[in-house]
Amino acid sequence: MANKTWFVTGTSTGFGHSLAAYLAQQTGVNVVATARHTDQLGYLDQYDHGQILKQTLDVTKKDEINDAVKAATDKFGGIDVLVNNAGLGYFGTFEESDRQSVQYMFDVNIWGLVDMTRAVLPTMRRQKAGTIVNFSSIGGLYSFPTLSFYHGTKYAVEGISESLAKEVKDLGIKVMIIEPSGFRTDWAGRSSKKALPQIDDYKPFTDFIEENAKGAHHEAGDPDKAAQIIFDQVANHAAELPLRLPLGQFSSDTAIKKYEHDLKAFKRLAAISASADQK
Ligand SMILES: NC(=O)c1ccc[n+]([C@@H]2O[C@H](COP(=O)([O-])OP(=O)(O)OC[C@H]3O[C@@H](n4cnc5c(N)ncnc54)[C@H](OP(=O)(O)O)[C@@H]3O)[C@@H](O)[C@H]2O)c1
Repeated sequence: MANKTWFVTGTSTGFGHSLAAYLAQQTGVNVVATARHTDQLGYLDQYDHGQILKQTLDVTKKDEINDAVKAATDKFGGIDVLVNNAGLGYFGTFEESDRQSVQYMFDVNIWGLVDMTRAVLPTMRRQKAGTIVNFSSIGGLYSFPTLSFYHGTKYAVEGISESLAKEVKDLGIKVMIIEPSGFRTDWAGRSSKKALPQIDDYKPFTDFIEENAKGAHHEAGDPDKAAQIIFDQVANHAAELPLRLPLGQFSSDTAIKKYEHDLKAFKRLAAISASADQK
């Protein structure tokens, strides 16, 4: 059987690093490991027997996206799995958040994922097969204070992915959304800017952000275990691939609590809602 080619964004650290390293050790798998700085991908060298392509890729740069997709298809003949992993965070209250930083986060978390997916879809449509794995977050389903704009990016990933899944289902292409809770990556530290405190009324949230930052790299989630689960779902459970894959106890607990709560509220309001339709 032909090798399956996985294309992963943001493989310098965190989930992307764990996934690229895990994929590089599997038989029958080609890995396109992309990063803004490929000199950070030396960890892959020990596994390389011609099945690894390291490629420079900033997901906000369309020319780099096109070059990376071309390099991948030239070397391996196609792309079977696209993992849109690259992403950033931003902590700050809604009022204190800095527009430029937030806008950049939207460029990476949403437009990077969108442009990347659009660049790969023609190949997957030609193949009549493919899997798109989009990193959202439990923060794409449930909101916490000080993360309003991060939630905005991840709720967008949810809506875009869910709609796309329906459009490409009959073309042989599947979409899976990853919903991690806290994992030991660089996300809460260097990958999440923090808003400058400006308004005294929000002081408790400034303290909350500082406290939270101290927890970086001590989260419950293990990105190496996440990599194994993601691979197993795509490689071995393709027929029943979930649209949403929760990762971490807090993720599934929170999602279940949220959906149960919302279900009750929607049921209570169903008759009122229906009464708004024209007779
Ligand atoms: N860790 C968690 O608790 C958690 C929870 C839920 C969801 N997530 C999501 O998981 C995904 C991966 O993050 P992580 O937790 O693994 O954090 P991470 O260790 O900080 O990794 C983030 C990766 O994204 C890359 N990146 C940032 N901007 C980029 C750009 N413009 N172009 C290409 N790559 C870029 C980074 O590359 P550089 O090294 O060049 O900066 C890095 O490789 C993100 O989408 C994040 O939102 C994380």
